[in-house]
Amino acid sequence: MHIDILTLFPEMFAGVFEATIIGRARQAGQVSVALHNIRDYAPGKHRVTDDTPYGGGGGMIMKPEPIFNAVEAILGATVPEAGYRSLLAEGYPPIILLTPQGRLLKQPLARELASHHERLLLICGRYEGVDERVRLRLATDEVSIGDYVLSGGEIAAMVLVDVLTRLLPGVLGDAEATGKDSHSEGLLEHPHYTRPATFRGQSVPEILLSGHHANQVEWRRQQSLARTLARRPDLLAEAELSQADRAFLAGLLRDVSGGGVE
Ligand code: ADE
Repeated sequence: MHIDILTLFPEMFAGVFEATIIGRARQAGQVSVALHNIRDYAPGKHRVTDDTPYGGGGGMIMKPEPIFNAVEAILGATVPEAGYRSLLAEGYPPIILLTPQGRLLKQPLARELASHHERLLLICGRYEGVDERVRLRLATDEVSIGDYVLSGGEIAAMVLVDVLTRLLPGVLGDAEATGKDSHSEGLLEHPHYTRPATFRGQSVPEILLSGHHANQVEWRRQQSLARTLARRPDLLAEAELSQADRAFLAGLLRDVSGGGVE
């Protein structure tokens, strides 16, 4: 997958994209990221990228020209009057605007983006916002990473690149496989332990030391279910649950209503 990122702060990405899984995947050629400084595409000696809003209201708004210029230079295409969306059918990549007003990023959206596209272009907004014509004529999608306001789309773009990279074929080894991640089956993860078996008086649950593989698998599943029920019961409605899962959850709910749980 190739990801172009349009930003006023390309230097923000350096550490994140060099370290750990993204860094490894870039070196292995499984993902490539090109950072483009929007300022380089701003006309005039001063390369102005923002201006005050029409109608007042304070703050600064990112101007449309530098962003349109950048997209056209990067993709080698002119954005039609009708908008960029019409180019999707010709194989041009989706343009995703990172904004708190966008679709909430959840694992299914990440899976959809990772599996359907070989190239994506991300636009990181800054300041109070981006001129509406970028949203109307350029962006084919808008994505938010959560219901809070960041100072710009850069951190959101890093999150999106991380989430997508983990999903690309071959990026994670079997041991780290995403199939077992929190949320990938719609459940939270079970607790994890490593050596020592006893640390400051706290022992690892007996079952994990027992060597009974089948029992351990069942324990992990039940811990996931119990944790999801306790912390994110909303996820259970969408999760893939077996008959045994449902029976276990029903048992937990009976215990709670009977007052039998600590
Ligand atoms: N820009 C500012 N806040 C954001 C958010 N929550 N998600 C995506 N982009 C943003």
